[in-house]
Amino acid sequence: MIQWPGRRSAASDALTTTHTIADLRTLAHRSTPRPIFDFIDGGAGDEVTVRRNTEAFRGVSLLPRVLRDVSRIDTGANFLGTRAGSPFGLAPVGMTRLAHPDGELAAVRAARELGVPYILSTMTSSSLEAVAQAAPEADRWFQLYLWKDRVASEALVRHAAELGYRALVLTADVPVAGQRLRDARNGMTLPPSFPLRSAARLALHPRWLARTLASEPLGFAALDVERGGFAEQSNRILDPSTTFDDLTWMRSIWSGPLVVKGVLSPADATEAVRRGADAVIVSNHGGRQLENAVATWDALPGVRDAVGDRTEVYVDGGIRSGTHIAAARAAGADAVFVGRPYVYGLMAGGEAGAVRAGRMLQTGLERTMALLGAPAVENLVPEMLAPPRMG
Ligand code: FNR
Repeated sequence: MIQWPGRRSAASDALTTTHTIADLRTLAHRSTPRPIFDFIDGGAGDEVTVRRNTEAFRGVSLLPRVLRDVSRIDTGANFLGTRAGSPFGLAPVGMTRLAHPDGELAAVRAARELGVPYILSTMTSSSLEAVAQAAPEADRWFQLYLWKDRVASEALVRHAAELGYRALVLTADVPVAGQRLRDARNGMTLPPSFPLRSAARLALHPRWLARTLASEPLGFAALDVERGGFAEQSNRILDPSTTFDDLTWMRSIWSGPLVVKGVLSPADATEAVRRGADAVIVSNHGGRQLENAVATWDALPGVRDAVGDRTEVYVDGGIRSGTHIAAARAAGADAVFVGRPYVYGLMAGGEAGAVRAGRMLQTGLERTMALLGAPAVENLVPEMLAPPRMG
């Protein structure tokens, strides 16, 4: 497309019409071929848990305090000893270059611009080096799937440490792949190959196609695997025999902050902390793994109670607005992570779209805090939930 000097592109014009994460999702849907959109948007089985996550946050009931000085709102929050601009971070998302050719590089730059942490996935489609170089000063964490090959896993972890990834996040809820029906029906493989029946769908998105063909071929940048269906791929790499003893081992090889992601049971959270975790992420993988898993909003209070105040507790799954972030804080989370919201942004408009998603969350949080009578995130307390929840 011809770009006249000083004129904004059609993509950035379209972005300005988006005001909610749902708007970004609609735009993402329009600008991306169906199999790609479905891979990102979908979940396991009949997607009960995907809906449960979002509905739980949508159903939150808030009890504001009034006549408090909210002329200055401070959304700053701590993540494992580092101050962030907001109590949210960008969750690990495999193969982000499916959403946009700039993929993980755009995501880490967006995180830097927003002043929030970014977790790079083991299933990254950009190299650990390239992501580090794209935003050296961003708060970069690395997410690990423990592979059957422990020597290779350890080498990857050490490589991440050398490149300045500050925290290690062990994802614990993928002993085997969840059943992703949309992907199975679309014939989606990872890295993607496009069956002939997809050609028509791709042709409907010439801009996406041109962008994708002009960029590096998609692949797993940190793994050496062949192409296959999602379940096939994951099961080739993942180790279903992983236990808490492996967490103890990871604690012995990683000296920085260690986080366990995918915890829903209070007993598992306690055990993770006993084995040396500095934080846990209450997560059901965005409803992409166990069907009918509990909504993360419902699992949060039990985990918070179990680990007490000394361990940081984060939550992800279904968070789509600043109001949801405020509610999560009030319910006992130190901070939250978001997955699809920034990836919808990437699909809708690359880095600018991801930043726009983050700004929606940020400004929404500021407004909600003012309306709740909470000038700082520490003022978001369980009494602001009706009925009050444990915090
Ligand atoms: C994920 N998620 C994920 N988690 C992880 O630990 N490693 C990974 O590689 C991936 N990959 C991935 C791909 C895609 C397309 C999605 C949507 C999600 C899960 C992710 O980190 C997070 O837990 C959820 O996305 C949170 O739910 P919401 O915010 O998407 O509702």
